[in-house]
Amino acid sequence: MTQQSLTKVCPKGSVSELIDMRLRSASAADLALLRYWDAKPHVIAARGEDGSFDWESELPRRLDWRELLIAENNGRSIGFIQIIDPAREETHYWGRIESGLRAVDIWIGEEADLGHGYGTQMMHLALGRCFAEDVVKAVLVDPLLSNIRARRFYARLGFEPVEHRMFGADDCLVYRLSRQAWRVAKS
Ligand SMILES: CC(C)(COP(=O)(O)OP(=O)(O)OC[C@H]1O[C@@H](n2cnc3c(N)ncnc32)[C@H](O)[C@@H]1OP(=O)(O)O)[C@@H](O)C(=O)NCCC(=O)NCCS
Repeated sequence: MTQQSLTKVCPKGSVSELIDMRLRSASAADLALLRYWDAKPHVIAARGEDGSFDWESELPRRLDWRELLIAENNGRSIGFIQIIDPAREETHYWGRIESGLRAVDIWIGEEADLGHGYGTQMMHLALGRCFAEDVVKAVLVDPLLSNIRARRFYARLGFEPVEHRMFGADDCLVYRLSRQAWRVAKS
């Protein structure tokens, strides 16, 4: 399934640009690109102590509790989104957690693509995808406490900080967006 978002944005201090964002499933054909993005300093910094994905093993795996998605803007692959059901995720990264949630990871690959509004459109599509399932009552994200810009990004989308938590060695702030808050934020 692909989803599309067509928006005209005007990033700070620049001319307006038509964003035509789609999410598609990641496949083995994305292996080299995902490895290349993994080596980018801004991606490494946002990941903390978490290792990168073993893409070669993970890309072919089809799991009903996870989606690995590539965001394409005007047909160009620009970023990655993972959506999981944290209660069913196999490593139990989130520990004991209620059902009816989704957790999202997001990054943009090229430094030059940061701060153009692409991430906002990617998250709108990801949230639409999560809340399209009636059972989903809220979506979680867990930026590093030190990732101030990502925290501001989530807050602007309507996420509320709910918990300061260590995930392994990573000092994180958990944010939650309820279905109700999502409805209000997008209206
Ligand atoms: C977080 C991210 C997906 C946001 O996407 P984006 O396209 O840059 O964001 P938008 O242009 O839609 O919105 C701009 C806001 O994004 C946030 N942002 C986060 N990291 C940023 C970065 N490295 N450069 C620019 N903006 C960033 C800021 O809040 C920014 O607003 P500001 O100018 O007021 O600081 C993207 O910046 C990114 O991939 N960052 C690196 C990886 C990361 O931090 N992922 C999240 C891990 S929890």
